[in-house]
Amino acid sequence: MKNPKYRLIAEHIKQKITNGEWAVGTKIPSQRQLSEEFRVNRSTVITALEELTAEGLVEGKTGVGTIVTNSSWTLLGQGSLKNWNENLQLGPLKSSLQTVQTINDEESNPDLIQLSKGELSPSFFPKREMQTVMTKMATDFKTFGYEEPKGNERLREEISLHLSKNGLKVSPSSILIVSGALQGLHLIALGLLRRHSTLYLELPSYLYSLTLFQSLGIELKGFNMDQYGVTTKGFADFHKKKALYTIPNFHNPTGAVMPLRKRKELIRFCEENQLPIIEDDIYQELWIDAPPPPSLKSMDQHGSVLYLGSLSKSLSPGLRIGWVVGPEPVINRLADLKMQSDYGSSSLSQYVAAEWLGSGYHESHVANVRAALKTRRDAVLTYLDEHLSDYADWTVPTGGFFIWLTIKKPFISKNLFRRALKRGVLINPGSIYSENEAGQHIRISFAYEDLDRIKKGITQLEKIFINEGVDERSVPRAAKRRPKEIWG
Ligand SMILES: Cc1ncc(COP(=O)(O)O)c(C=O)c1O
Repeated sequence: MKNPKYRLIAEHIKQKITNGEWAVGTKIPSQRQLSEEFRVNRSTVITALEELTAEGLVEGKTGVGTIVTNSSWTLLGQGSLKNWNENLQLGPLKSSLQTVQTINDEESNPDLIQLSKGELSPSFFPKREMQTVMTKMATDFKTFGYEEPKGNERLREEISLHLSKNGLKVSPSSILIVSGALQGLHLIALGLLRRHSTLYLELPSYLYSLTLFQSLGIELKGFNMDQYGVTTKGFADFHKKKALYTIPNFHNPTGAVMPLRKRKELIRFCEENQLPIIEDDIYQELWIDAPPPPSLKSMDQHGSVLYLGSLSKSLSPGLRIGWVVGPEPVINRLADLKMQSDYGSSSLSQYVAAEWLGSGYHESHVANVRAALKTRRDAVLTYLDEHLSDYADWTVPTGGFFIWLTIKKPFISKNLFRRALKRGVLINPGSIYSENEAGQHIRISFAYEDLDRIKKGITQLEKIFINEGVDERSVPRAAKRRPKEIWG
């Protein structure tokens, strides 16, 4: 027997909903449009809609029309999930800060001058060497199966060797391969830190740009680096259920390097008080003037330090290859969590990374990067001197990607980020790295854009300050620029 016409209409609408064309919340065509489309009278359309309403797929809303209220999940009998939109805030993780979401979106906008990007310029990418590595891998590889829980064994051996060149002796069994240092931080937060515990960290810090730790009920307690530094003095109220997160080399966002004396003091205090340390060392190789002091991990006698590294900053973030180094039982625990979350990082990326490190190209590549970073840093400091010295002070980074600007009083503005964006320049406002920032800092990167575009970006920032309406003559000349030891 032929399907009655109202059924055909109902099936048509159902199909649109189940294949996702009409998502929950979509207003479906009006009764008049449907009756014209199917050449039926209105009452047939109404019968079809009544059937869909009875199934809970659509709902008539006065003054609006008929709205899709449920999706394929209902049809599969999956219970009461009604609308993804209603569930957006239900998971345990908070959304990123709105500014961070905007930065993430705009970082792929080619029309903007990217002074924000914490990434090497594509011109630094060692394409020829990488082609050699990938061609070799393409002939040598056997399969891309699931890797071991701690990651590809050869890669862990190569990382172990790589770290030993920087004075860190660790066996491959103490290394976990992760999809970038960020995943390492996730695993540590999920697996090793208790709810209602406290994480000490530098203020400002990269970690404030994530909401991960707070989502998990971990309080971030920042210490002003220039006032106290991360010294034992700052930890006067120390008691259990605390840990310390630190970026001792080319700190993000300030660029600071923790002096050796402070490292020794810190490691001694943390060991005496059983305060575990998360050492985020992903910029370590990118020194410009002199190699930084030894890592905290290399001074760690008692397994207090979890050490994070990555290829993101020195080679390419798209590989998503990073590592966590720590005591074996801790690494085993993190490896188990990693298996539960993704069964391991991409085997393809791990092969490439192992071949890359094993090829010997890495050292010469990083040496080239350092030289190029030096040229860029020096040029950008000159641009800053020429264009922004009336409006800001800054510290001279001795490595890494970033210059941290402190805006002078009359020009402090919470809207700097938006104003710069309007002028086609993406910057990172200090507010994403701190809890109490009122527009007095910005972070700019000298690693990503070409120098002429960086200069353009800086002149746009200058125009913003000029348009602020403050009499330039009333602005004190910039203090003579001098490197400042933030942990001093
Ligand atoms: C201090 C710090 N840690 C971790 C990360 C994340 O790096 P990855 O790409 O290795 O996940 C970043 C990225 O900007 C960073 O600046």
